[in-house]
Amino acid sequence: MNSPAAPRPLALVTGASSGIGYELAFLFALNGYDLVATGRSEKTETAATELARHGTDVIPVRADLARADGVEAVWRAVEKTGRPLDAAVLNAGRSIGGAFLDTDLDDELSLIELNVTSVVHLAKHVARHMAANGKGRILITSSLSATLPTPYETVYGPSRAFTRMFALGLREELKEHGVSVTTLMPGATDSDFHARAGMNNTDFGPGMKKNSRMDVARQGFLAMMGGKAEVVGGDAATRRTALSHRFLPESFKAARHARAAKPRP
Ligand SMILES: NC(=O)c1ccc[n+]([C@@H]2O[C@H](COP(=O)([O-])OP(=O)(O)OC[C@H]3O[C@@H](n4cnc5c(N)ncnc54)[C@H](OP(=O)(O)O)[C@@H]3O)[C@@H](O)[C@H]2O)c1
Repeated sequence: MNSPAAPRPLALVTGASSGIGYELAFLFALNGYDLVATGRSEKTETAATELARHGTDVIPVRADLARADGVEAVWRAVEKTGRPLDAAVLNAGRSIGGAFLDTDLDDELSLIELNVTSVVHLAKHVARHMAANGKGRILITSSLSATLPTPYETVYGPSRAFTRMFALGLREELKEHGVSVTTLMPGATDSDFHARAGMNNTDFGPGMKKNSRMDVARQGFLAMMGGKAEVVGGDAATRRTALSHRFLPESFKAARHARAAKPRP
């Protein structure tokens, strides 16, 4: 008599409807995970249908993570499976380009809700759930922007600096509970990210050579599976930049970022 098949592991990926998050969800699907895959737009369902072609069960959840009820809706979808969550990728995020004097305050406060508050909110559920199970892997997307001041995206960089230090702190706390936390720090990556941030009129526009989102996702996935603390997402030049940021003065990095991110007249 055949023994019953081992249950498939379950992963949650936020921001799975496009970009780096979609590629991460794809890697989970290839590796035999079922998915709770979230996004905000109608692309969420399309992405879920594509991912399901790889023989994985995908639960799409459309929710605005800049709102507490959106975060709760995502967590309810996980709980509704009645299954242990083996991996969670807290990846949804965005930037806003432009001069701080011109950018919209409500938009920036909403960015903080998404990039900072929702990460803490969702991590609270995920961490308690995984600690109670004595196992789990968490990947939190930060950015190379966490390692410098980011003028003309002045709110974005600090939001990712929060994410990075939050992830590193949580990693230390959750160690003794059998849960690993990994931080992904991509450099500029080919996704909708900069266009959505209104940065096409800067060096981050369509002409810029960017890292492949597939490569960045693979680096994040492997680092998470290997229980690593942190990984830079991108090519050798991106890794060299990350290394140089440890030694360069903040004022130098700020001036360099301003030249690249300042909208052209
Ligand atoms: N691309 C880069 O250069 C770069 C560099 C460093 C770090 N990162 C980080 O990587 C992460 C993923 O970005 P990406 O490059 O893959 O960008 P992307 O292609 O624009 O994808 C962003 C994802 O986040 C979701 N999202 C955005 N706002 C949301 C909201 N209010 N509620 C729920 N979901 C929301 C989007 O959903 P919908 O598409 O359905 O709206 C999408 O799935 C972000 O956290 C970003 O900070 C990106």
